[in-house]
Amino acid sequence: MNKYPVITAEEAARFIHNDDNVGFSGFTAAGCPKAVPAALAVRAEAEHAKGNPFKIGMFTGASTGDSIDGTLARAHAIKFRTPYQSNGDLRNAINSQDAPYFDMHLSHLGQMLQYGFLGKVNVAIIEASDITDSGEIVLTCGVGIAPTLCRLADKIIVELNHAHPKAIRGMHDIYMPVAPPNREAIPVYKPSDHAGVPYIKVDPAKIAGIVETDLPNEGGSFTPVDETTAKIGDNVADFLVGEMAAGRIPKSFLPVQSGVGNIANAVLGAMGKHKAIPVFEIYTEVIQDAVITLMESDRVKFASGCSFTVSNPMMDEIYAKLDFFKPKLLLRPQEISNNPEVIRRLGLIAINTALEADIFGNINSTHVTGTKMMNGIGGSGDFTRNAYLSIFTTPSVAKGTNISAIVPMVSHLDHNEHSVSILITEQGVADLRGKSPIQRAHTIIENCVHPEYRQLLRDYLKLGSGHTPHNLHACFAFHHAFNETRDMHNVDWSKYAK
Ligand code: COA
Repeated sequence: MNKYPVITAEEAARFIHNDDNVGFSGFTAAGCPKAVPAALAVRAEAEHAKGNPFKIGMFTGASTGDSIDGTLARAHAIKFRTPYQSNGDLRNAINSQDAPYFDMHLSHLGQMLQYGFLGKVNVAIIEASDITDSGEIVLTCGVGIAPTLCRLADKIIVELNHAHPKAIRGMHDIYMPVAPPNREAIPVYKPSDHAGVPYIKVDPAKIAGIVETDLPNEGGSFTPVDETTAKIGDNVADFLVGEMAAGRIPKSFLPVQSGVGNIANAVLGAMGKHKAIPVFEIYTEVIQDAVITLMESDRVKFASGCSFTVSNPMMDEIYAKLDFFKPKLLLRPQEISNNPEVIRRLGLIAINTALEADIFGNINSTHVTGTKMMNGIGGSGDFTRNAYLSIFTTPSVAKGTNISAIVPMVSHLDHNEHSVSILITEQGVADLRGKSPIQRAHTIIENCVHPEYRQLLRDYLKLGSGHTPHNLHACFAFHHAFNETRDMHNVDWSKYAK
């Protein structure tokens, strides 16, 4: 029994006041507190019913489970939210301007909080698998910005979740860079290097109470690989094998970062199956199901990440075989998993998913037709800008074939042509390295665009002039056609003829 007061989720929620900034542990749904945020949403609704204001600022590692983003969005309790989300109700609240949202690079959040750019952290709510009387908090299946939150918060509430075994201790590497001008090199030279300690050390006096829970992870599930995602995966794997043959990837391979979602999961699966790709290591943000499967079949030897963003059966699998997985898996704060210094040093192969790309190699990861926030940039910018090879994947079309994922000009820019090396769809691979804008456009149109849109995009190029031959009247014609007719095929270039 610990020396800290054991309190209920409702009592914990009373430590939080209107206008407070609250930090939540976790990264994706992994490692997020669940009981206290749900009680907080109930409290917000009760205050609203009495005519009182109740909204909080929210800092998390990335997205969260429904218990945080969903319940608080539905309770209209969000004053401010950063840095990433993927919840349907929060997405609606953001797009209706009910919840102000600051979309930012995940590696920046810890230091922006430390420097005070985002205001004070009043309360941190941290999910833990264990806590000692001396203030050592052992996290669960996600790290995120929990160490920074614990350092900065006035008060800490610990959700001690008994669904996570205490034996997970040792799977976290908590290293916090000090602020400039005294910052030193981060001592991570290979994915398996430990730079810190397996717990967050806090002043026990800051712990306001412990809320005991036994709640399962809010892990999602992955849709089975289909023909399109399988083809994208094969194209990525074949491309990487070609890079090895050309001597641009060493025979021992390079560590891989792979983004979120189904495509990323399928890409890793395809890499695992490709006989010419040697056993490899992962240095990434989210460790998804495919990594665990590949580890069990000895195709991945080590994975460093910020969270186990796995389905619940896969989480059970990890815990059931902890002796096997513990030496092979390591969770770090996002300041380190996504750190540009480490990413550049390790020479990562970064593979992320685009919502939309343009014919010149610019990428939109976040905004549907330029205005509606989907999720956020997440770590894609951290990795893309600093990797050895920056690859983007996307299906060439969406909504049947009514949307071409490749357009004349992206309707929102997250990753620009200077950072993106390779674009891969189910149609093929466009290697953009060393090419002028017009050369990139031809390569993307012929190799990656869906056949139904190739001629339209070839014709678009004839409407422009200059180094990057855009036509500023016509560049969003695909988006206008979709907004007006729900189909991007309905573009009429004759309106814009030179
Ligand atoms: N225009 C409009 N809608 C589009 C579209 C486009 N160009 N491309 C896809 N869509 C729609 C799809 O039809 C689908 O709609 P639905 O939900 O109604 O079915 C939806 O957008 C999601 O598409 P999907 O292909 O299933 O995407 P995904 O789950 O693979 O996610 C991103 C793609 C880009 C949203 C996701 O990877 C992301 O949030 N990335 C940013 C963060 C990131 O990269 N982090 C990684 C760092 S580790």
